[in-house]
Amino acid sequence: MKRVAILISGGGSNMVALVRSMTGDHPARPVLVASNDPAASGLTRARDLGVATAAVDHRPYGADREGFEAALLDPILAARPDILCLAGFMRVLTPDFVKRFEGRMLNIHPSLLPKYPGLHTHRRAIEAGDTEAGCTVHEVTAELDAGPILGQARVPVEPGDSEDTLAARVLVAEHRLYPAVLRRFAEGDRRPLLLG
Ligand code: GRF
Repeated sequence: MKRVAILISGGGSNMVALVRSMTGDHPARPVLVASNDPAASGLTRARDLGVATAAVDHRPYGADREGFEAALLDPILAARPDILCLAGFMRVLTPDFVKRFEGRMLNIHPSLLPKYPGLHTHRRAIEAGDTEAGCTVHEVTAELDAGPILGQARVPVEPGDSEDTLAARVLVAEHRLYPAVLRRFAEGDRRPLLLG
């Protein structure tokens, strides 16, 4: 049984979808939900789902990324995860942290990578006049939003879409894609999954 730790920064809707998927004959189970924000509402949702939680406030560390990550590593390593899932986790991780989990750390990004790495992906898609958008699950490497792609889901951009209406449509796709990719990944299957 693979042990999965999930890192969040906010509401954790992707975390909830992942936790809810890991039941029955699924080869993985959630062992920890950790956040860089002790007030993240996703922590309460994780506890309601019976998953252990941990939080390390990144703000007191300021620019000391290494110090923050050392503190965050304590509860993560104590949970002995086989797989790390970043899900709405909004901190850039140092290469040292990434190296420790390379090949077994996933992230979901709200664009069809390699288009629109970084922030404000929906606004950029709308401003570019794209007719489709979506989300990508990829392995996390030292380069931001650039690791091997494990899955993508496409959604239409509708005329009159705002950043919020597009984000909401993509989020629904995220909640389908991430659990499907995690299951395959936990079974050792790294073939990219492409959802319409
Ligand atoms: C969402 O915009 C999602 O695209 C990105 O992080 C944001 C919050 O996700 N991955 P969540 O609801 O905290 O999972």
